Amino acid sequence: MASPSITGRPDAYQDLLLKVTPPRLPRNLVPRKRLTTTAHALGDASVLLVQAPAGFGKTSLLAQWRKEIQSTGVAVAWLSAHTRDDPHRLVQALTLAVRVASGKAAFGQAAFEFDGDDRLENVTVFLAELAQSAQELVLIVDEADKLPEASREALNYLLRQAPQNLHTVIAARPDWRTDLDDLVTYGQCVVVDQRLLRFDIDETLQLVQARAGARIDRGIGARLHVLTEGWPLGLQLALSIVLRGGDASAGVSGMAVLGGELQGQLVTLLLANLADDDRNFLVRTAILDHLHPDLCRVVTADPRRFGSPGAAEPGHAGVCQRRRRRVAAHACRGA
Ligand SMILES: Nc1ncnc2c1ncn2[C@@H]1O[C@H](COP(=O)(O)OP(=O)(O)O)[C@@H](O)[C@H]1O
Ligand SMILES: [Mg+2]
Repeated sequence: MASPSITGRPDAYQDLLLKVTPPRLPRNLVPRKRLTTTAHALGDASVLLVQAPAGFGKTSLLAQWRKEIQSTGVAVAWLSAHTRDDPHRLVQALTLAVRVASGKAAFGQAAFEFDGDDRLENVTVFLAELAQSAQELVLIVDEADKLPEASREALNYLLRQAPQNLHTVIAARPDWRTDLDDLVTYGQCVVVDQRLLRFDIDETLQLVQARAGARIDRGIGARLHVLTEGWPLGLQLALSIVLRGGDASAGVSGMAVLGGELQGQLVTLLLANLADDDRNFLVRTAILDHLHPDLCRVVTADPRRFGSPGAAEPGHAGVCQRRRRRVAAHACRGA
């Protein structure tokens, strides 16, 4: 845990300290081999971008990577972004994150106390001190989609101006605009999307085994996999429901709930995790058999551009049409 003195003021900036404290790893974490090696890809790329809807395990993966990278002796700074993070506060939080990660309590004093109007100049001051330190550093920014527009621009600037010794890992929802296409094209930015984050059948069965042991057999595990479509949070919730019967045979009672209550609970959870925009989107597009950008634009009357299939369905982009209808019906009942 970080010491308050790292802020330079004992009682000030406590909220910033919370932002730079990494979360705990969830229990029964299933390591996905294809993703543990992705962290090593950072050696070549300067940015690693993880984009997926809520519950796909972005934060957990970042926390896992943090440990993995730290074990190689490289300092890792953590920041959980927030809607209140204007550019000034963003740079302050980044400075604190670096102090906590590197143990250098005096790092970035000029950036921390910067009071000029030019927000990008502040980022430059921060980067200049990082470059001067010459210490290898990985900066993790979780929930970057929460940043206000001005801070998104400041972060974008930081990624483009980053010195050689800085690598950055960013997690955000799929509809977050990055402006990093050229970096992706030139191999400087590696993207991990929900296709890579989804559990495969073996990973689902691994989690089922870890949580339920012999109480759920492979057949029911496989059905849970189909039902949750490899969505990690959905699977955890499904397991909680199926195992709720305590010592009773989860296999038999689990079969009974798979078709009914479980689906309702999954949908409720999904809705609770969606922003208003995304909920409206699901309700309005439920009538469509196939999602197409033009159709989405018409039925949602949304001025946003639906350019790619990923962008066409904000939030839970991987939900199939049958499930979208169920979600829409649920949302309407709850409205
Ligand atoms: N690798 C994993 N193994 C087991 N459970 C996981 C894993 N990744 C995510 N989960 C489950 O999904 C939940 C949501 O994960 P989280 O990392 O918070 O997702 P996101 O940041 O994408 O919203 C976790 O609390 C955990 O229950
Ligand atoms: Mg998260």
